[in-house]
Amino acid sequence: MSELNLILLGPPGAGKGTQAARLRDDFDLPYYATGDILRAAVKEESELGEEAKSYMDKGDLVPDDLICRVVVERVDSEEARDGFILDGFPRTEPQAEALDQALSGLGRRLTATLLIDASDDEVIRRLSGRRVCKDKGHTYHVEFDPPKNEGFCDQDGSALQQRDDDEPETIKHRLEVFHKQTKPLVEHYEQEGLLRRFDGTRSPDEVNGHIRATLATLRLEEEL
Ligand code: AP5
Ligand code: MG
Repeated sequence: MSELNLILLGPPGAGKGTQAARLRDDFDLPYYATGDILRAAVKEESELGEEAKSYMDKGDLVPDDLICRVVVERVDSEEARDGFILDGFPRTEPQAEALDQALSGLGRRLTATLLIDASDDEVIRRLSGRRVCKDKGHTYHVEFDPPKNEGFCDQDGSALQQRDDDEPETIKHRLEVFHKQTKPLVEHYEQEGLLRRFDGTRSPDEVNGHIRATLATLRLEEEL
């Protein structure tokens, strides 16, 4: 079977992490979410975390060279030999170029960039109600996907909390950053014929179904 090298692109709160959790189970691929990697580094107080924290708290992007090193290392690892899911990377033109270069240096290429779209109003609703578990970051929504026991994770029982960057002002800024710095990548991948669009306002299962159907078609086309 050919490798499956996927990017999840989309505004904050569109459901990239929600869909990635399903795709990981569907395809058994390693999952690299730069936001999760950076939040773990902040928690560990590693050098990377110290450098990233001030940018993340404000909702700004961390510098390209910092994040590119982190991702290229993982894409070039043994576990990612048969493919990978990238969530939250690339987010700028230089990041997209760094990824293209790294992949072509390895004789590989992207399979598809999956754009999950949602309006600014929907993003605000989603992020204001998002709750994540303290231990593993399992994600819920107070209205759209509430846990069985209010305030606690269904999967590991740990306490649910709000992400530091889900404050109203920071959400607004993250949206501005998305429109200015990340949205141009939609055109970048469209021109390369890699972009596939999904309506992120549908239910998580519906979005997952659409993504799976698209990937199945892509694979059939590859085999022809
Ligand atoms: P990151 O963690 O990547 O945040 P983000 O892109 O802003 O996206 P989110 O994780 O907030 O949203 P999501 O799309 O994953 O939505 P989710 O599935 O959780 O980045 C954080 C920060 O790290 C950045 O601001 C930056 O500082 C730094 N960073 C990261 N990558 C970087 C890079 N490459 N370069 C530079 N800096 C970088 O869903 C949201 C909510 O909606 C949940 O509550 C969920 O339950 C609910 N929901 C999901 N799907 C649905 C649905 N279909 N219907 C109803 N509700 C839904
Ligand atoms: Mg996420």
